[in-house]
Amino acid sequence: MIKINGLTKSYRNKRVVDGLSFEIEEGGLFALLGSNGAGKSTTIKMILGLVKKDAGEIVLPEGKKIGYSPETPHFPPFLTGEEVLRYYGELQGIAKKELKATCERLLEVVGLDSDGTKVRHYSKGMLQRLALAQALLGAPEILILDEPCAGLDAMGRLEMLELIRGFKEQGRTIIMNSHILSDIEKVCDGGIIMKTGKKVKAFKKSDLTEERTLEELFVQSVGGALGERGEAVCG
Ligand SMILES: Nc1ncnc2c1ncn2[C@@H]1O[C@H](COP(=O)(O)OP(=O)(O)OP(=O)(O)O)[C@@H](O)[C@H]1O
Ligand SMILES: [Mg+2]
Repeated sequence: MIKINGLTKSYRNKRVVDGLSFEIEEGGLFALLGSNGAGKSTTIKMILGLVKKDAGEIVLPEGKKIGYSPETPHFPPFLTGEEVLRYYGELQGIAKKELKATCERLLEVVGLDSDGTKVRHYSKGMLQRLALAQALLGAPEILILDEPCAGLDAMGRLEMLELIRGFKEQGRTIIMNSHILSDIEKVCDGGIIMKTGKKVKAFKKSDLTEERTLEELFVQSVGGALGERGEAVCG
């Protein structure tokens, strides 16, 4: 189980994550939701230790590997996708004799060709797929995916959701963040909705029904200002 308690972070005196607490059960998909700037990526980066927390507690299960696919992946542009994976695999210490087959398999899993295309010629969706392949290196038990569907075309999104369902069936724990609530609704077991760094709602899959969709829950939880702005614009 992952336990977050009172997590707090400020940038230039502005609290971007503010006393956040939640727990994630092992082996399910946990959605971290909220408007732009709500503090989701910062929370993820603190869980990963990439950003230093100001206060709070993060308890991670011992001995479990974490794979991370960032919101805006950057890879050395002069490498091919396969070379990128081999490079990251070497950094992880994956044995040379396994590495080639592992990289080929992962590229196939995420639907990328090993045709020698350099990363600088990759489309946004291709970069997103490569980032997922990189996250899967070393067979991590926990996957943290920051907007894995961003930039994917309609078929790509469906494929990504299928893949994510598959990871769940393998018993992996997934923390995922997406603005496409209909996608999240299809795969999540629960999650939280954040607003200006705070948790405004926690939900379980069983809370969602055809009458009470995740979108409705989201708008109710964070949408106060949206309604007011809409009225102002539309008169
Ligand atoms: N390195 C940084 N320096 C200063 N401010 C930052 C930094 N990183 C994030 N912030 C600020 O923290 C707030 C939360 O950002 P964060 O990226 O966590 O939001 P998010 O919920 O992931 O948003 P989005 O949905 O747009 O990805 C924003 O106001 C952002 O400007
Ligand atoms: Mg983000």
